[in-house]
Amino acid sequence: MTEPNRPVAVVTGASQGLGLALATELAGRGWSLVVDARRGDLLSAATARLPGGPHPAVAGDVADPSHRRELVDVAAELGGARLLVNNASTLGASPLPAFADLDPATYLRLLEVNLVAPLALTAGLLPQLRRNRGVVLNISSDAAVEPYETWGGYGSAKAGLDHASRVLAAEEPRLRVYAVDPGDMRTQMHQDAFPGEDISDRPEPATVVPALLGLVEGDLPGGRYRASDLVVSSLGVA
Ligand SMILES: NC(=O)c1ccc[n+]([C@@H]2O[C@H](COP(=O)([O-])OP(=O)(O)OC[C@H]3O[C@@H](n4cnc5c(N)ncnc54)[C@H](OP(=O)(O)O)[C@@H]3O)[C@@H](O)[C@H]2O)c1
Repeated sequence: MTEPNRPVAVVTGASQGLGLALATELAGRGWSLVVDARRGDLLSAATARLPGGPHPAVAGDVADPSHRRELVDVAAELGGARLLVNNASTLGASPLPAFADLDPATYLRLLEVNLVAPLALTAGLLPQLRRNRGVVLNISSDAAVEPYETWGGYGSAKAGLDHASRVLAAEEPRLRVYAVDPGDMRTQMHQDAFPGEDISDRPEPATVVPALLGLVEGDLPGGRYRASDLVVSSLGVA
């Protein structure tokens, strides 16, 4: 059980990559976390190292309604979520296929994980988030905007997430709802997107975290942001 008055954040896909980097920083700042990922062993190992624990690690697939219900229930037990980070995501296939080769089952799975699941989890957590005048952070991608060849399945799911974020922001004035493009990061997902390529020049996910924290802790209006713009403006360059 968490200490009373610690803000509670639900972060999906927190066993590695951006989710783990953000969870680590939030935990260090006193947040209680509810985290998920499908592979429970990796999730438990990652969560055990988070500051201020123990933090509940709920292994499961965000596309599974019963798993989402468990995340909502655990957050309620901790006092109610003030922050939801919809970060878990799939590429669908590696290497990425052109639309001509994207089979419908893979596309459906992309839409379920990257679009339907974040919105359904948000809906489940809305009573808690409204009570806490909370924040929803949906992790998007430049592929939601740019017509990169072979990125159409993933990109259209993220584009849907961007638009759903705007609608949710309009419907829920007590919340701040953001879609954020983190930019390229040196993670497993990025390696899977570019199999065999040397991605060591891409920035570590931790470099994006200050921009995300700026949204969570700031008062920018809901909408779509690029992490690179936020970091630049916080340095006073823009
Ligand atoms: N890396 C980039 O260059 C880049 C660029 C633009 C946007 N993004 C976005 O940034 C976010 C983080 O990506 P990342 O690069 O940090 O990815 P990552 O390192 O591959 O980590 C993904 C995390 O999500 C979990 N996950 C994946 N599918 C899941 C599911 N169905 N249910 C629950 N958990 C699931 C993974 O654990 P399990 O596999 O054990 O489930 C893992 O913890 C994603 O939304 C991605 O679309 C990334």
